[in-house]
Amino acid sequence: MEIKPLNIGGVRLEGNVLLAPLAGYTDFAFRGLCVELGASLAFTEMVSCKGLMYNNENTSALLTVTDKERVKAAQIFGNDPQIMRAACESEHLAPFDIIDINMGCPVPKLYKNGEGSALLENIALAEKVVSECVKSGKVITVKFRTGVTEDKLVTEEFARMCEGAGASMITVHGRPRSAYYSGDVNTAQIAKAKNAVSIPVIANGGIFTEDDATALVEATGADGVMVARGALYDPFIFSKITRKTQLIGFKELIFMHVDGLKLIHPDRWIAHNMRKQIACYLKGVRGGKQAKIRLLSCETTEELKAVVSEVFE
Ligand SMILES: Cc1cc2nc3c(=O)[nH]c(=O)nc-3n(C[C@H](O)[C@H](O)[C@H](O)COP(=O)(O)O)c2cc1C
Repeated sequence: MEIKPLNIGGVRLEGNVLLAPLAGYTDFAFRGLCVELGASLAFTEMVSCKGLMYNNENTSALLTVTDKERVKAAQIFGNDPQIMRAACESEHLAPFDIIDINMGCPVPKLYKNGEGSALLENIALAEKVVSECVKSGKVITVKFRTGVTEDKLVTEEFARMCEGAGASMITVHGRPRSAYYSGDVNTAQIAKAKNAVSIPVIANGGIFTEDDATALVEATGADGVMVARGALYDPFIFSKITRKTQLIGFKELIFMHVDGLKLIHPDRWIAHNMRKQIACYLKGVRGGKQAKIRLLSCETTEELKAVVSEVFE
């Protein structure tokens, strides 16, 4: 695909390949690595605006960010326009240049609360949320799905609403809530969004290779792509798509991720939390299956590294 700069509400990105927000995965160390590998923007995982306002300790760890990310982007969720705006104006989000609003999360806990993808069924409230957040003065973007179910697609209307309410970019995940993360990406719907608005439109869903990225841009006319699970299995996907030369190997990358987390987390926390992420990295790698089982008993980062070293020997 063609790599080109993006202007998001006055914030310039060098390129148009983005790392998606991924709950439980897109920590500051991972995001920094993805940016180094070629991603032009990386989002924190979704953070509850209420958690933010009540100074939840876990929330501030999720919002740790370093200067490895030249442009910094956080994602928040919630459905109370005033609380969402207060979150955007809060000190917690001060380090971030861009705040993305999650209007696509399918999990029942959020959906039943009227948050995440439930806002696709309440466009009037979604509009209030976006326009209040815009009043904070922050650059606001929105990530949403095509609809709640396949027979009630709202992509075009929702895209127009976001632009009208002052959003500076939208990302369309080309699946409805009902599909969660499986099934085809509805490229026609993403194309409709692209044709309906003049702010940048980013296409998301099903990018696992460089060719997938090219095909998605060609089919949708989108201004850029957002890679999600594909980056968990292979963060080098960013250098492949952007054709950026890479000097480090997979083992070094994993070690850098583990060591990066030491900035704020104790060793045992890292050992436990990196098990699932290293398991993703080892998907498809020879010897990866047996290593994944051994990872489960690792209690220190030294033990984790020993398992990884053996796989890449
Ligand atoms: C484990 C996991 C966590 C996710 N967390 C978030 C999140 O915090 N915010 C969000 O907007 N989307 C989240 N998503 C959705 C992804 O950002 C993306 O839209 C979706 O996975 C489709 O892209 P893909 O087919 O390339 O994986 C998550 C997806 C997965 C699999």
